[in-house]
Amino acid sequence: MLTPGKTLAVLVGLTIGIATGAQAVAPDFMDKLGAAARPAEDKARDGSRRPYQVMQLLDVREGMTVVDVAAGGGWYTEVLSAAVGPSGTVIAQFGSGGDAAQRQARQARADRLGNVQALFDGLPAAGVGVADRAVTALTLHHRNTAFLREIYEALKPGGMAIVIDHEGSPGMDNDELHRMVKADARRMIDEAGFEVVADSDLLHTSADDHSLYIMSAELGRDTDRFLFLVRRP
Ligand SMILES: C[S@@+](CC[C@H](N)C(=O)[O-])C[C@H]1O[C@@H](n2cnc3c(N)ncnc32)[C@H](O)[C@@H]1O
Repeated sequence: MLTPGKTLAVLVGLTIGIATGAQAVAPDFMDKLGAAARPAEDKARDGSRRPYQVMQLLDVREGMTVVDVAAGGGWYTEVLSAAVGPSGTVIAQFGSGGDAAQRQARQARADRLGNVQALFDGLPAAGVGVADRAVTALTLHHRNTAFLREIYEALKPGGMAIVIDHEGSPGMDNDELHRMVKADARRMIDEAGFEVVADSDLLHTSADDHSLYIMSAELGRDTDRFLFLVRRP
């Protein structure tokens, strides 16, 4: 669904693109998503995660500095790396958790991609006002407003972020299901000081009724997800 906010964001993005001649993503973005070196399990998720459309909505462009916040295995790290190209930088914030093997795999991905700085620390260690764009995906359900405020601080004024999570319904044990009621996410985004540019249905699917644990086999990892595009004023 194209909401008024999303329409405005698309129009603003197109206007900027026409004025500067800039592309939304590096020209070989799709080639890199299909590259033999990219893990097959990452590619298998492209259908539901819609990387090209998400990068377009966030208006990620070549040469930008972007942050993957709570990057986990690094699925978005690799997508962002392809989007900003060799002249850009991805800060992949993995945190200090995980075992030695996970850390090694995360570092190996960063080394292979070349334009990624792996950060095994909290997001504040990335610096203040350093990023043009940020993504945090499937993380907010166990976090709070302070987590979003760290993203706000990492962005440059005018910088934008995308917040994606597994949608939950009120009255369910969403903590147990690893889901989040969208209205709660919206409240936290407002509390953190962001402007909401778009509340997008890009990752919505009616095949998920919000009652199942997100990793249930029936869902095949294709959960219903909310997506907010937000801006640091
Ligand atoms: C469900 S995963 C999502 C990973 C990734 N954002 C994605 O969309 O593919 C959530 C991740 O957050 C990571 N995480 C948990 N606590 C963290 C922290 N304090 N700082 C950074 N990452 C953390 C976990 O390791 C986990 O991999």
